[in-house]
Amino acid sequence: MDTEKMTAFPSEIYLFRNDGTVDNEQVVRAIYSLREQDPEGVHKSNMGGGWHSNEYLFQDPRFEKLMMFISTCFKMVLEDNNYKKEVVGDIDASWAIVNKHASFNVAHVHANTDWSCCFYPRMPAGDPGRIVFKDPRSAKSMVDHSKYLDNYDSLAQHSVLALTPYEEELVIFPAWLEHEVHPNNTNEDRIALACNIQLKLEGKDEKGGY
Ligand SMILES: [Fe+2]
Repeated sequence: MDTEKMTAFPSEIYLFRNDGTVDNEQVVRAIYSLREQDPEGVHKSNMGGGWHSNEYLFQDPRFEKLMMFISTCFKMVLEDNNYKKEVVGDIDASWAIVNKHASFNVAHVHANTDWSCCFYPRMPAGDPGRIVFKDPRSAKSMVDHSKYLDNYDSLAQHSVLALTPYEEELVIFPAWLEHEVHPNNTNEDRIALACNIQLKLEGKDEKGGY
C-alpha cells in the first residue's frame, strides 16, 4: 500500500558539541569568578541554593569565544528552518547557573525572545539533573495511550523529553518550549550558561523591521 506519514507540530531541539572553539576551563573559571564577586546572584528559576548570574555575560570578553560558537551553531538553525538569508540571531541576554547538590530550576519559558540555548561547562557524572522539556501540545495531555503501547520508542509519544546533556554540549531550543531542571543529585556543581537569541533582519533596528 502506498502510504505516507506526516509528523506535524514538531518542537525542534538541536544539539552541538564544542568543536574546540570554546576554552571550557576558561569559561568555568570566569563563572566562578563572577559568583565570587556577586555571591547572592539573582533569583529567577533557580531553587534549592542554585546560583544565577546577571544576564549580561554576552558583553563579557571572557565569554566571547563561547558566543562565537553559539552564533555559528545558530546559523545552522537558521538555515535548517528556512529563515530568510537577511535574518540574524542576536544574543541579547546570557546568564550562568551553578546548581550545587539539590539545586534545581522550576518550569519556565523564556519570554520575549525567539530562540534559547544552553551550554554546559560542567556536567558531573551520575545524576546532575536532567533538563526536561514539556510537550507544548496541551490538548494531547487529555488522553493517555500509555496502557496501549508496547514501548515509548517514538519521541512523538512522550509527554516530556528529559535530556542529560554532555559536558561542553550546546542545546538550542525554541524559547517558548517549557522546561525545568531536575535536582542535582551529585556532590559536584552542575554549570550551565544560557542565552536568549532574538531574530532580527540585518540592517534593521527593530524586530521584524518590515
Ligand atoms: Fe531556561
